[in-house]
Amino acid sequence: MNTPALTKLEMAIYLDHNATTPCDPRVVRAMLPYFGEVFANPANGLHPLGRQAARAVEAAREQVAALIGASAGEIVFTSGATESNHLAILGAAAYAPPSRRKVITCAVEHKAVLLPFKRLEAQGFAVTLLPVDADGRVLLAELERHLDERTFLVSIQAANNETGVLQPVREVAALAHQVGALCHTDAAQAVGKIPCDVEAWGIDLLSMSAHKLYGPKGIGALYVRGGARALPLRPLLEGGGQEAGVRAGTLNVPAIVGFGEACRICREELGAERARIQALRDRFERGLLAALPSARINAQGAPRLPNTSSLTVPGIEADALLLNLPEVMMGVGAACASGAVEPSHVLLAMGLSRKDAYATIRASLGRFNTEAEIDRAIVLIAERVLALRRGG
Ligand SMILES: Cc1ncc(COP(=O)(O)O)c(C=O)c1O
Repeated sequence: MNTPALTKLEMAIYLDHNATTPCDPRVVRAMLPYFGEVFANPANGLHPLGRQAARAVEAAREQVAALIGASAGEIVFTSGATESNHLAILGAAAYAPPSRRKVITCAVEHKAVLLPFKRLEAQGFAVTLLPVDADGRVLLAELERHLDERTFLVSIQAANNETGVLQPVREVAALAHQVGALCHTDAAQAVGKIPCDVEAWGIDLLSMSAHKLYGPKGIGALYVRGGARALPLRPLLEGGGQEAGVRAGTLNVPAIVGFGEACRICREELGAERARIQALRDRFERGLLAALPSARINAQGAPRLPNTSSLTVPGIEADALLLNLPEVMMGVGAACASGAVEPSHVLLAMGLSRKDAYATIRASLGRFNTEAEIDRAIVLIAERVLALRRGG
């Protein structure tokens, strides 16, 4: 029997899919044999169980590659997008020639990109942080102005985790290549939600993460154009020489199999799911704007992920709202770092005031949300905002 607390939790509406997604039950089913019967180390090809595990890893590698238009040999398994970003940025820069010590990224990147760039700065690289417009889109003219033949790497995200805003990755890559620079994209939020194609984008390095696309946590991949032998990366971890020597450590076979299955499902269902989720997201935004006329959707007119809504409700504190709203699980435009709540650097870079950044909530919808949930979320959010404004 359920405890009352559990029943309440089960009834709660989860709108925080950009933070993480639940594992799809099909993914869990695919993983199970690899915790049990097929537990062997895939590096040991001398016994049948090792070979069976290795075949499962290679099948998953094909599935991950297929979702982004890559070939299997271009996929390096990592622990997630944080590690992929570090491997791409620090690993590539380790081989930058002395004549190319400039690197470029932008103000709305995830900290998992901004912090490795800080490390490069400490190593003597000249780092440019491009500004964004009011929608959070990178200014291509600014990029062009900073690019020259001393530039080694440009890293611009595919989609923003807080606003869902898409960056012009194809144009960024083309400009970077004109001066002979490499181009990386953190696509942790884009892969699985919109079509992503490394060939169409012309990207050299792409980070992705399984737990953002209904796979398990702790597993991700870095796409490396032509494979790690064609585009040399200094490993962050050395040891057993796994993953073409770029990422040592015994492979997490169940997680890799789950990641592969999650990618297979996304590839098959992305078209229909994208349209359904976007319709739900639009319904959510229409409903809330009607109920709360002073609210604003950030970057509403910009190209955005179909599932994400960044909503500023002037006069409220987003964290207080969420604490008073356990029935609807969402995110806020602020990050709690070492006890102090700082307003989101993404919203500030878009020109929001600190006050408005603190008044911003993020709803990110997903595969298992229903229309009934969205309608209930609108009522609950509006009700609680009005109560907070009355000082309740
Ligand atoms: C844009 C972006 N990059 C990187 C990450 C980190 O991903 P992971 O949790 O797989 O390390 C996230 C997750 O929050 C993200 O949204």
